[in-house]
Amino acid sequence: MEEPRVEELSLTEKIGLLTGADAFTLPALPRIGLRGLRTSDGPAGVRGTNMDPADRSTSFPAPIALAASWDPALVERVTQQMGREARAKGIDVLLAPTVNLARTPYGGRGFECFGEDPVLAARIAAAYVRGVQSEGVATTVKHFVGNDSEVERWTVNVQADEATLREVYLVPFEACVTDAECAAVMAGYNSVNGVSMTEHAELLTRILKDEWGFQGVVFSDWSAARSTVETALAGLDVVMPGPDGPWGRALVDAVKAGLVPESLIDDKVARLLRMAELCGALGAPGDPAPALEVRKGPHARRDVVREAAARSFTLLRNVSEALPLPRDIRELALIGPNAVHPVYQGGGSAEVGPAVTISPLEGLHAALGTGVNITVAEGCAHSYRTSGPDADCTEDPVDGGPGARLDVYGADDAPIYSGIRPNSELTFWDPLPEGVAANAEKLVLSTIYTAPADGGYRFAVAGIGELRLDVDGELATEAIAPQANDPMEVFSQPFESGVERDLVAGQRVRLTASGKPGDYEPGFVRFRLAAQRIRTAPELMGEALAAAGQADAVVVVVGPAPGEESEGYDRTTLALPGRQDALIEEVAAVCPRTVVVVNSGMPVLMPWAERVSAILQVWFPGQEFGHALADVLTGDQEPTGRLPVSIPRTEPLVPVGIAKPREGVLEYAEGLSVGYRAYARTGIDPRYPFGHGLGYTEWEYEEIRLPVGPVHAGADVEIGVTVRNVGARAGTETVQVYLTRPVDGVSALAAFGQAVAKPGERASVRLTLPARAFAHWDSAAGAWAQPDGTFVVKVGPSSRELPLRGELLVG
Ligand code: BGC
Repeated sequence: MEEPRVEELSLTEKIGLLTGADAFTLPALPRIGLRGLRTSDGPAGVRGTNMDPADRSTSFPAPIALAASWDPALVERVTQQMGREARAKGIDVLLAPTVNLARTPYGGRGFECFGEDPVLAARIAAAYVRGVQSEGVATTVKHFVGNDSEVERWTVNVQADEATLREVYLVPFEACVTDAECAAVMAGYNSVNGVSMTEHAELLTRILKDEWGFQGVVFSDWSAARSTVETALAGLDVVMPGPDGPWGRALVDAVKAGLVPESLIDDKVARLLRMAELCGALGAPGDPAPALEVRKGPHARRDVVREAAARSFTLLRNVSEALPLPRDIRELALIGPNAVHPVYQGGGSAEVGPAVTISPLEGLHAALGTGVNITVAEGCAHSYRTSGPDADCTEDPVDGGPGARLDVYGADDAPIYSGIRPNSELTFWDPLPEGVAANAEKLVLSTIYTAPADGGYRFAVAGIGELRLDVDGELATEAIAPQANDPMEVFSQPFESGVERDLVAGQRVRLTASGKPGDYEPGFVRFRLAAQRIRTAPELMGEALAAAGQADAVVVVVGPAPGEESEGYDRTTLALPGRQDALIEEVAAVCPRTVVVVNSGMPVLMPWAERVSAILQVWFPGQEFGHALADVLTGDQEPTGRLPVSIPRTEPLVPVGIAKPREGVLEYAEGLSVGYRAYARTGIDPRYPFGHGLGYTEWEYEEIRLPVGPVHAGADVEIGVTVRNVGARAGTETVQVYLTRPVDGVSALAAFGQAVAKPGERASVRLTLPARAFAHWDSAAGAWAQPDGTFVVKVGPSSRELPLRGELLVG
């Protein structure tokens, strides 16, 4: 059909299209055949516009895991499945990928990003965009730019010089625009060099649109647009969420008053219609919304998600051939808080409601069968929050089924909703009938809890506003939750108030949690009732050591608790929470074959690293965690992950530390020296360097082939590398090329590729060093400089192990 002509729309119609119709949908305009585009977070799956239990989502490996694969082709296959799922859920626009950088390991959203290096992030991000968009689903590359940490994220002013922006933080955005033609970009909450990103004409218009030729839509991050004329002039195209916001009537008036040219509005609408066309959202005028082509593929999707998770696992250490586990193992101990409470995904808007989750125990059982006895022990707690209750200990007081009864009351205590919450909690992403959340004055969750064993129990109520918990009809605790800094804090780590009781096995208690959200934020609900058996530290440790003492091998799964790495706040420590370090030390002292599995999005400290047999970093692996873990531990799948972030030895030895703004300003004073470049500049040794990761075989780096004679400045350069598999198994090696430039001696990743070879065989990898790898930003000229000179090329398996070297003469 013919594209609708922007000139045929009235000013009010046009501007009406430029603010969301609601939280996640864009306005429809049936007159021109435009249906309302539906957006969904990303980036670790397709949540949908809410967490609808009837329409669950695949929980994909976190983006940091995708980056750890160092395999753009794999990532494209994975995100193609994401695109298909978006289509099947009726989603047109995915609010992903997140291409901010892990400037510091403290970043709360580090798990959502592709690591610390712009070149790796750019290639993985472009593959991500291509995969999703190949299914006719738009991607939204976010958060443009400098939103690399969470403290004061709504207001922080990031101060970075031009070279730092151009050579580091803008690189992945640029690749998504110029190499992958992303359909949208999201402007962040933060400011850069004193200008709010939604008002940043230099970055949004001059660089993104004019210089890079971006043809798509610039969305505001949710509620990031805080002005009318400034945002409209700067290059913002669509304000989210809606229906209210700073545009609408105010922007119509501004155009009429001559403050914003109407041609600029036309350009925004044209961009939006272009996106609608990509998503198939434009029919003939008057047509009903076109039927979506639904291609469900849950089985294929689960296979790809499992493969990607396994391939992202990064083997940091493996002594005495601890892994793969030998076939003759009969007794396996599965220990650790994350073995019992695995963290499948990071917290915040990236969370999805998965239909299935495979725990490490389930995965190992399925793989090892009945011939191997697996003993599970928590070992210690990783959270000071109350977990549970397990659904099978709860009973709805009305219908008797598992779960808790949620009653919602409006003004004058009028009941407005009653229903079951199987997990005894409520978040603003749970679908409730229209108007319930907005009118909720009081929430009550009640359940009959049956104690599974004799002992002490902790019961708690968590949420916002006034909270109260009654046990058997008597007030047990009440509190007023302090105001949180960020709504996501309330979502991932709500304030809780608890009480302890001793119970005997089979004893039934009635728990009634009530909460009055007050004037927190209209429509925002977060409420939870928790119940957990109290286990003492010596009890937990004793069980773990007993299990370890009997075992042929121990797998200790450690990491942060759910919600600890999340949007809305940064991490305050890199240490494993609770007594996990002591647990690992003690278990390793008892069992010589101790494999530590680290289930975290960003690096944790590993003071025990030299005293365990193997360390496998598994990130936040998504729903197929257990299967992927079994695949790698048994050796069915080689762990091909390589670190996309450096792992520090101690907190004082983190070169770019806590990202706390000073008086609202966060200075990127380290300039280009982020990640491994910061370690190189400061002379600090990381525990494990960027790029590091072992497989199940060994490699020799034999030869590097560079062009003979000088190469032209401004041209790509092809090189060849030969590696030989000198181990006993077929394997995959990630060959990394680092280029040192003469202008300042900075050495950075320029190219990477994978070699596959059988034992004894050689493999040759052809790699392209892009012209940009030889360039630097010349701030005086305001342009890229491509100088002549001698560049040093280093090749190897990590940023710190580069056995092959050569020189390239440019000029
Ligand atoms: C986050 C975005 C997200 C949006 C919508 C914001 O708070 O920063 O990443 O896409 O919410 O959920």
